[in-house]
Amino acid sequence: MNFCDGHWSSHRGGQPPLATAGGDWMASGACVDGNYIFMSITVTFIQQSGDEQTIQVENLAQSLMEVGRNHSVPGIAADCGGACACATCHVHVDPAWMDAVGPSNPIETEMLDLNTEMTETSRLACQIELREDFDGLRVTVPA
Ligand code: FES
Repeated sequence: MNFCDGHWSSHRGGQPPLATAGGDWMASGACVDGNYIFMSITVTFIQQSGDEQTIQVENLAQSLMEVGRNHSVPGIAADCGGACACATCHVHVDPAWMDAVGPSNPIETEMLDLNTEMTETSRLACQIELREDFDGLRVTVPA
């Protein structure tokens, strides 16, 4: 990470980004004109009713499930807490985002295969670790 010679500027009041206990940065950013610019992303959960919930995410050290659960998104129960063992965080990724998000991993696919609402764009939100390039990500929560 480029520390931009120690110059920080952002909506965090000029404070540097926070580090987790594991040493990972909690937030993404960029060096612009010698200043570290804190950036956040937005993700949108869409319900079958068409209702949308767009959430600004400043901590990228979490999964899409954690964002949904922490914002009480209906349909993101996350009963297993992210252990890929319940499929209650099932989402349909907007097809425009599938290349970026990628396909389910083998264990995730096994869980999804048990779900009657599985489609080609199905993912378990707990298996989607957020990244800076997911800004604008849209997913639909199955009924
Ligand atoms: S939270 Fe249980 S599979 Fe995702």
